[in-house]
Amino acid sequence: MISLLVMFATYNIFVYTQGTSNNTPKMSKQAIKGEQLYQENNCTACHQFYGLGGYLGPDLTNIISQEYKGPAYVKAFLNSGIKSMPKFNFTEEEKDALVQFLTEVDQTGYYPIKDAETDASGWVGIKYKNQ
Ligand code: HEC
Repeated sequence: MISLLVMFATYNIFVYTQGTSNNTPKMSKQAIKGEQLYQENNCTACHQFYGLGGYLGPDLTNIISQEYKGPAYVKAFLNSGIKSMPKFNFTEEEKDALVQFLTEVDQTGYYPIKDAETDASGWVGIKYKNQ
């Protein structure tokens, strides 16, 4: 019984004191402000990242790096609205923060992923941008 308790305690100390390896990129302050605006204004009710979100508007994962799109393109939509998307009265600073947020989201990967490879064990290898 005692050895079980010792094993239990050792196991717990090990599990709860080891940090998980976390190589998630950190967002800049400006991007965090942009993320807050994204949440407060409910962009996610209509837009998706990596296919998740509401479906009234298009996916925004790679809006910054897509051909013919980018910061000015995003700002134009915020200024004017389109169809069911309302016109937002953001300040320049707020628009820059939103663009910065979208830029940093864009750097995390590709969506949709067209060249994912499945190996023999069933593991799906995907391409990340920051590797
Ligand atoms: C009520 C739904 C709704 C909300 C809320 C909304 N959008 Fe949209 N958005 C749309 C629709 C619909 C379109 C246009 C789709 C089309 O091209 O016809 C769009 C288009 C866009 C586009 C252009 C996408 C492209 O690929 O051409 C961007 C960028 C965008 N929205 C950003 C935002 C941001 C940022 C917010 C939050 C501040 C937001 N939207 C909030 C519905 C919404």
